[in-house]
Amino acid sequence: MVTKTFLLLLFCSLIRCSTSNDTLRRGSSLSVDDDSHLITSPDNSFTCGFYSFQTNAYWFAIWFKNSKDRTVVWTANRNRPVNGRGSKVTFRKNGVMVLTDVDGMVVWETNTTSTDANYAVLLNTGNLVMKNQKGQIIWQSFDYPTDTLLPSQTLTKSKSLISASRKESVESGYFRLNYNNINVLTLNYDGPEVSSVYWPSPNPGFNVWDFGRTSSNSSKVAVFNDFGVFNSSDGWNFSASDAGFGIRRRLTMDYDGNLRIYSLNDSTALWSISWQAIAQPCDVHGICGRNGICIHGEKAQCSCPPGFEWNDPTDLTQGCNPPFKKTCGNSSRFRFLELPKTDYYGFDLNRSPPISFEACRDLCLRDCRCEAFNYRITGEGSCYAKSALFNGLRYPNFRGTTYLKVPTSMETPEFSSIFTCTDAPVVMIGSPSMYESPDKKVKWIYLYSIAIAIGVVEALLILLGWWVFFGNNALVASLEDGYRMISSQFRGFTYQELIKATNNFKVEIGRGGSGAVYKGVLEDQRMVAVKRLGDVSEGGEFWAEVSTIGKINHMNLVRMWGFCSQKQHKLVVYEYVQNLSLDKRLFSSSFLQWEQRFNVAIGIAKGLAYLHHECLEWVIHCDVKPENILLDAAFEPKIADFGLAKLSERGGQNSKFTKIRGTKGYMAPEWAHNLPITAKVDVYGYGVVVLEMVKGIRLPNVIVQGEEEESALMRFVRSTKRKILKGKELWIEEIMDPRLGGLYSRKQAAKLVEIGIACVEEDRNKRPTMGSIVQVLINCESELFYKE
Ligand SMILES: *[C@@H]1O[C@H](CO)[C@@H](O)[C@H](O)[C@H]1NC(C)=O
Ligand SMILES: *[C@@H]1O[C@H](CO)[C@@H](O)[C@H](O)[C@H]1NC(C)=O
Ligand SMILES: *[C@@H]1O[C@H](CO)[C@@H](O)[C@H](O)[C@H]1NC(C)=O
Ligand SMILES: *[C@@H]1O[C@H](CO)[C@@H](O)[C@H](O)[C@H]1NC(C)=O
Ligand SMILES: *[C@@H]1O[C@H](CO)[C@@H](O)[C@H](O)[C@H]1NC(C)=O
Ligand SMILES: *[C@@H]1O[C@H](CO)[C@@H](O)[C@H](O)[C@H]1NC(C)=O
Ligand SMILES: *[C@@H]1O[C@H](CO)[C@@H](O)[C@H](O)[C@H]1NC(C)=O
Repeated sequence: MVTKTFLLLLFCSLIRCSTSNDTLRRGSSLSVDDDSHLITSPDNSFTCGFYSFQTNAYWFAIWFKNSKDRTVVWTANRNRPVNGRGSKVTFRKNGVMVLTDVDGMVVWETNTTSTDANYAVLLNTGNLVMKNQKGQIIWQSFDYPTDTLLPSQTLTKSKSLISASRKESVESGYFRLNYNNINVLTLNYDGPEVSSVYWPSPNPGFNVWDFGRTSSNSSKVAVFNDFGVFNSSDGWNFSASDAGFGIRRRLTMDYDGNLRIYSLNDSTALWSISWQAIAQPCDVHGICGRNGICIHGEKAQCSCPPGFEWNDPTDLTQGCNPPFKKTCGNSSRFRFLELPKTDYYGFDLNRSPPISFEACRDLCLRDCRCEAFNYRITGEGSCYAKSALFNGLRYPNFRGTTYLKVPTSMETPEFSSIFTCTDAPVVMIGSPSMYESPDKKVKWIYLYSIAIAIGVVEALLILLGWWVFFGNNALVASLEDGYRMISSQFRGFTYQELIKATNNFKVEIGRGGSGAVYKGVLEDQRMVAVKRLGDVSEGGEFWAEVSTIGKINHMNLVRMWGFCSQKQHKLVVYEYVQNLSLDKRLFSSSFLQWEQRFNVAIGIAKGLAYLHHECLEWVIHCDVKPENILLDAAFEPKIADFGLAKLSERGGQNSKFTKIRGTKGYMAPEWAHNLPITAKVDVYGYGVVVLEMVKGIRLPNVIVQGEEEESALMRFVRSTKRKILKGKELWIEEIMDPRLGGLYSRKQAAKLVEIGIACVEEDRNKRPTMGSIVQVLINCESELFYKE
C-alpha cells in the first residue's frame, strides 16, 4: 500500500516535471528561481520563461526551443531586465499578468482587466495568449512585437519592429520597420538626434513606387505567412528563397539595420538567411552614428575621421566625437580636412548650382552652420554644404570628396583614426559568420551600383592598430579578443593540425628571410601555404606579423588565414596562390604578355598603396621584389611576405629599424645612408620591379667588382633619361623586352618607364607616392592595346 502510494506520487511528480501543464492559470506564477518552470508550446517548438543574456539579468521572453542559440522572438520589457532571484510573472486574480522584480516592483503588465481571464498558453505559432473562460483571446504577445515577426503575425499601423541595440542583446536600438504617414512600409533610423529613411532607398535613381508600391491603401497592414511570403498593404511583397511550407522562419529587424528572413535548418538547428532588404551594409543610415563613416568593402567597417574618437567603441551607432568644440567665428580660424571618396548623406544646407571648388569652400567657411562640404568632380562641380554629418559612407568609386571644417589649431593626429577602424557590428553581407552557408540563399532585392564594385575595385581597409594604443604588454591579450572578431576564416591552429595539413612539412614551396614555406591542405580542403618562422624572438615580432596581416584584406595582398603559436612553434597560414611568383614569369621562357604585365604593375601599386595610405603609412613592406609578388590563376598579383613588414610610426622620424631588411638590388639608398626608413623604400623597390617588367631582365642595382662605378640599374636609368631628353622618337622601342615582339601599348610602356625612373630617384622626397602611381596607371589602363 505504501509502495503503491509512493509510486503514484512519483508518477505524479514525473508528469508534473516532464509535461508541466503548459499553462499559466489565473492566480499562479512563474518564478525566475525555478528554471524548469517554463511554458512550452504544444508542438515543443517555442518556450516562454525567463531568459538570460548576461549574469543576473533576466527577461521574460519567448524563444525558439530548437534553435542552437535559443533565438529570442519576443520579450516583455526589453529595456528593463529583472533580477535573477525573486523575480516572477504572476497571473493575478484581477486578470492582469505582471512581471515583478525582486523588490516587487512591477516592470511590465498586460492591459487586461477582464475578470473572466482564465489562463495563458503558448501557441504553436510562438504567440503567448491569455484566454478567458470561453476560450477567447483577450491578450496576445503578437500584438506587441519587439524585433521579430513570426509567420501569421501581422504588422499594423500602430506596431513597429525595432532592432536590438547590439548582437546578443534584446534592448532596443535605433532601426525600425514601420509604416510611414503615407502608408508605405519603411526601414528607418530613428536615433536620438535625427531620423532618416533608408529603405525604400532614397538614392537618386531609385523609385519608391517600383516593385508595385502604392500609398493609396491606408489599411497599413502586413503579414508574413507560413509559406515564407510577406505581403504588405502598400502593394509590396517578397518571399523567402526557400519559400514553401514546413520550414520555421522569422523576419527580424537586425541590430545592423537590415531586415532579414531567417530559416531554421532542423537538422543543424542553425539559421540561415533566406532574404534580406539591404544588399550593402553601408546603405543603412546611422549605422556608424554621428560623424562616423561606413566603409564599403568586402567587409563593411565603421571608422571615424582623423582625430575623432568613438563615443562608445562597443556601440558604433553612438558615432564619433570631434576633438574640438564646435564654434562659430572668424573664418580664418578654420581649415579643411580632406576625406576622399567620402560622402555624408543628407543634411544639405543648400543646393547650390554648380560652382567652383573655391566658391564652395568659401560658402562653407562663411556659413556658421556648415560642418563640412562635399564637392563632386563630376560635371561642373556639385557643392553640398552640410549642417550635420550623418550617414557617412566611403566607397571606392565615389567621385566626390568631403572636406571637414576643423579649427586651424586642430592637429592631425599621429595615429588615429580615419582608418583605425574598429570592428563594426556590421554583419558581412552574404556570409555572416554566425549563420550557416547563407551565400546561395541570400536573395538580393536591391543591388545598388556599388555592389558591383565589390571585390573588383580596391577592397577596403581593415582595422589596424587599435592595439597600438595599448602598448606591447596588452598586445597578446587584446589580440586574443581581436582575432576572434575579425573573421571566421582567421583563426588559431594547433601545431598538430598544421602537421597534418602539410603532411609533416613535406612540400617546401619557398624560403624567405623569415622562414620556409610549405604547401598544405586544411581539413575543409582549402589549400594553404604554411610559413614556419625560424628565428622568432619572444612574442613581439610574431604578433606584429599576425596582427598586421590577419587584419589586412586586399585583393592584391596575400591573405592570412590563421596562425599557430605553441611553445617554440610559430607558424602562419596563408592562402595558397596558384601561379608562380613574378620572377619566374619574367626572367624565364614562360614570360607574361604586355597586358598581364601592366595589370600586374597596377595590382602591385594598389596593394602597396593600400598598405601605405589607407593605413596611414603604418605598414611598410620593405622587401618589394619579384620573388614576393605571387600571381593567382588569373595572373592577378598578390604581394606576399609581410614577415618583414614592420609597423612604423607615421611620420618616419621615429621609425627604428634595428636590422636591415630587404634584398640587395631592390633596396633604397636610405638603407646604406642610415636614413629613417619610410614608405618610400617600397616605392623604390616598386620602381626597380616595373623597370624589370618593361625590360624583361634583372637590373641589379649592385656594383659589380671590376666594372665601372655604376650599377646596371643606374646605367639603364641614366641612358633612358638621356634618350627621352633628346626626344628620340623610338626610345621606348629600344628598351622594351624584345620577347614581346612589339606587342604592347606604347603609351602604357612609356608611362611605366617614367614612373619606374621617378621611383628610383636617389632623393626619396622626389619619389612619387604609391597612391599617385595608382591614379596615373588607372588613367592609362584603358589604353587600346597594340594600336598606335
Ligand atoms: C492542462 O491544462 C488544460 C487547459 O486547462 C487542461 O485541459 C488539461 O487537462 C491540463 N492537463 C494536465 C495534464 O493537467
Ligand atoms: C490591449 O491592447 C490591445 C492591443 O494594443 C488592444 O487591442 C486592446 O483593446 C487593449 N485592451 C484593453 C482592455 O485596453
Ligand atoms: C507582388 O509584387 C509584385 C510586384 O513586385 C506584383 O507584380 C505581384 O502581383 C505581387 N504579388 C502579390 C501576390 O501581391
Ligand atoms: C497580398 O495582398 C493582396 C492584397 O493587398 C492580395 O490580393 C494577395 O492575394 C496577397 N498575396 C498573398 C501571397 O498573400
Ligand atoms: C489594402 O490592403 C489590404 C491588405 O493587404 C487588402 O485587404 C485591401 O483589399 C487593400 N485595399 C485596397 C483598396 O486595395
Ligand atoms: C540542413 O543542413 C544540413 C547540413 O548542413 C544540410 O545537409 C541540409 O541540406 C540542410 N537542410 C536545408 C533544408 O537546408
Ligand atoms: C579674422 O582674423 C584675422 C587674423 O586673426 C584678422 O586679420 C581678420 O581681420 C579677422 N576677420 C574678422 C572678420 O574678424
